[in-house]
Amino acid sequence: MSLYTSHQNKIIGSIDQAVTNLTQILPLNNSYYAQCLEIFEANSDQRLGLLGWLEANIVAKMSQGANAILSVGCGTGAFDECILRYARQRMKQVTYLGIEPNEISAAEFSQTMGKQASNQVGVSVLLQKFEEQVFENKFDLILFVHSIYYLENRNDAIDAALKALKPGGELVIVIAPDEELNKIANLMWQRQMEQKSWFSDDVRAHFDARGLDYSEARVSANLNAKGCFGESTEVGRNIVDFIVQTQTDQLPTGLRNDIFDFLISITEGQGTTTCLPHPVDIFRCKKP
Ligand SMILES: C[S@@+](CC[C@H](N)C(=O)[O-])C[C@H]1O[C@@H](n2cnc3c(N)ncnc32)[C@H](O)[C@@H]1O
Repeated sequence: MSLYTSHQNKIIGSIDQAVTNLTQILPLNNSYYAQCLEIFEANSDQRLGLLGWLEANIVAKMSQGANAILSVGCGTGAFDECILRYARQRMKQVTYLGIEPNEISAAEFSQTMGKQASNQVGVSVLLQKFEEQVFENKFDLILFVHSIYYLENRNDAIDAALKALKPGGELVIVIAPDEELNKIANLMWQRQMEQKSWFSDDVRAHFDARGLDYSEARVSANLNAKGCFGESTEVGRNIVDFIVQTQTDQLPTGLRNDIFDFLISITEGQGTTTCLPHPVDIFRCKKP
């Protein structure tokens, strides 16, 4: 059964066509991306839900000895600083490495995470793409939190991540299903990257194709869409630009209107606030 009404499917078709006809769709520049990401997250309860889940189900079950953790596409460290806090409450030693090609986010990661560095905690960041590094049997935990979409070859990246784990180590991939507001990012990315991005189904298909054991869980979340539509605010524009993954005001009017129509059609009213549902899936796979 289709998730969308025939009207919504019509809008999706129209966006798809308009995006295909564009010569290019510029990605957000590094500093604006980092800004929009944090504003998006500050207006969503997803990060909180994810952190609670990861603390209870992953960090709390890790050994209390020494652990090495890798965060791929760590961004500014706003997420990882919480994971590190949980980890150091439990573990004797923690080595936490981030990989991040956005120099503005990587610098912020160093600063944010560096505050927790001590004899017990080592923190570092590599300013590069994950694909540019090779690790072997090094990590107890590898996290991809909303970063796998941006990698060029995700099959290779997952294989490389499994190689980079110590035996018994765990790979955790946090990724959105191709539903609701992510539908828009997917349509934009196919033009920006000249290939389809990945969503939950693709991770599932990868693990199935490799014959790997894995489990998955879904965390539901809502984004506060106040200020996104109509008389929009600057915060609202940042949120929409992050959803669309480009500067929305640079798009042709027809396409922009379709995007707004679609987003408004999936917006849910909750009391005096309007919100956009954006569930997230967590995949985990242990290296034997
Ligand atoms: C949506 S953000 C998530 C940031 C952080 N994990 C969080 O949850 O707040 C995705 C991050 O992946 C990074 N990224 C993009 N391409 C990458 C690559 N090839 N290797 C590693 N990270 C990448 C982006 O720069 C961005 O900071």
